[in-house]
Amino acid sequence: MKGQQAESTSPTPRKPRRRGRSKPIVVAIDGTSASGKSTNAKRVAKALNFRYVDTGAMYRTLAWYCLKRGVDIHAPKAVAAVCRKWKTRLVDADGQIRLLVDGYYPEREIRTAETSAAVPHVAAVPQVRQWMKRLQRRCAQFGNLVMEGRDIGTNVFPETEFKFYLDASLAERAKRREADGIREDLAQRDRRDSQRAAAPLMVPLGAVVIDTSGRTPEETSREILDRVRSKLETRRSDGTG
Ligand code: DC
Repeated sequence: MKGQQAESTSPTPRKPRRRGRSKPIVVAIDGTSASGKSTNAKRVAKALNFRYVDTGAMYRTLAWYCLKRGVDIHAPKAVAAVCRKWKTRLVDADGQIRLLVDGYYPEREIRTAETSAAVPHVAAVPQVRQWMKRLQRRCAQFGNLVMEGRDIGTNVFPETEFKFYLDASLAERAKRREADGIREDLAQRDRRDSQRAAAPLMVPLGAVVIDTSGRTPEETSREILDRVRSKLETRRSDGTG
């Protein structure tokens, strides 16, 4: 893969390589399904020239892989065992950090209805979440990040100063999913994401909460960018950045 950085993620994690002297900046964007996380996270990453990380895609990849291998997604031990053994690698593909399995990124396969239905089950397994947290923290080896997910500000990078939580009304989120040609029980997904025991979806302490209902992606990403830039400016003038 030309022009991409790659790193093996199994079996033994390597220490992250840091670029430059300062610690990478992580902008954490959490929130409910179809609240606009992906659209806004991509826009913000592009504007700041940071790497974009879709952590939902990582959980989806595991769900797809389990289905493909005939692993019972309702058997936490079997799912955890897959995580210990699968051959994965992180790569930077044009500014998007991707998780490859056996050298492959299942771009289409992770968006099918079958994978979407399976993913909350694998995402609820505590050992899976531990594995994903280690993996996601190692994404900082690629530089500054905009990382979207459900537990980035609460669990993966709780130390970051840049935390955002997006939400929108259920009706608006359902409309957005339908416009993408996806029919999904969002209320049920919200319940599953926020009621699981391991790293449930919740508003991170200190996060800026943005209701994206009735707002354009331009407006939402502008607000995030303004807040990130102003914080960076304050850090620079304090000499802490
Ligand atoms: O954002 P998404 O719809 O691609 O996420 C897919 C599933 O993965 C969803 O059920 C929530 C779960 N997920 C998670 O538990 N933690 C994350 N950091 C990201 C996604």
